[in-house]
Amino acid sequence: MSIDASDLKQLGNTSVKIPAIGLGTWGIGGTFSPDYSRDDYWIKLIRDAINVGVRMIDTAEMYGAGHAEELVGESIKGFDREELFIITKVLPNNLSYDRVISAAKKSLARLKTKYIDLYLIHWYVHGMPLRDVMRALEKLVNDGLVRFIGISNFSVREMEEARSYLSYTDIVANQVKYSIADRGIERDILPYAQREKITIIAYTPLEHGRLARNKILAEIGKKYNKTAAQVALNWLISKPRVVTIPKAGSIEHVKENLGAMGWRLSRDDIEYLDREFH
Ligand SMILES: NC(=O)c1ccc[n+]([C@@H]2O[C@H](COP(=O)([O-])OP(=O)(O)OC[C@H]3O[C@@H](n4cnc5c(N)ncnc54)[C@H](OP(=O)(O)O)[C@@H]3O)[C@@H](O)[C@H]2O)c1
Repeated sequence: MSIDASDLKQLGNTSVKIPAIGLGTWGIGGTFSPDYSRDDYWIKLIRDAINVGVRMIDTAEMYGAGHAEELVGESIKGFDREELFIITKVLPNNLSYDRVISAAKKSLARLKTKYIDLYLIHWYVHGMPLRDVMRALEKLVNDGLVRFIGISNFSVREMEEARSYLSYTDIVANQVKYSIADRGIERDILPYAQREKITIIAYTPLEHGRLARNKILAEIGKKYNKTAAQVALNWLISKPRVVTIPKAGSIEHVKENLGAMGWRLSRDDIEYLDREFH
């Protein structure tokens, strides 16, 4: 499947475009510790996912204590690296100048790649040396190890603080929880991001799979010959600046989620869903 131009979204304020839907990897290769028991399954799944059109993969040094990154690294071998957009994240216990640099290098080794497309601070920690951390992120960009930088789970005030420490780059994305059933970011984070040209990467877009069983979404989906999960994802990507990274554990789910692209809910249906889920 090739991705329609309308499903490629501007990354931050850059000239780069990223797909509206990628693949999350939380739980792939373990959660808080590595699980090596299903490596062959996960590698095949990620490779199959790329073969059916996934171009953006979200991971983190936290996931499976590094093993999710290792599996992504193993899976992307042999594919054209420039066709892929790899996102990973640095853990709060690595938030000092030196530790950010060494954490990024370790992620690169696990991912078996020369650069990370988008490197995020996984979440904000009060009292962390954010100025040093942002300087370290800029150094990684300067050294060509990271193409773009961003944050995750940052409030507007925290985004502003992070941005104030940057001298020649800007953050391009904030990865935050956002779904049709969890609209908290619409109060301030989403309008701020849309105004400031910062991409919102919506995580847990299916509410851990719960939305795939939602009757209202399924009913609307019938009009378009789409499933409830596809309606939930399409609702998200209909918003300016919003892309999303559902995690899928089977190729059927990967394909279904990619099928949330290539069409759009009507304005009337979006308004109806907005009312139903508010
Ligand atoms: N930055 C952060 O702090 C943060 C926090 C949470 C998540 N994330 C990222 O966001 C990604 C997505 O969030 P998430 O994993 O929390 O939740 P999610 O994507 O909302 O839900 C994943 C669950 O939905 C199921 N699912 C996926 N596609 C489906 C479909 N088409 N039909 C039915 N069920 C489906 C999956 O089941 P199967 O496995 O059976 O397919 C899985 O159990 C994560 O993997 C991670 O990369 C980031």
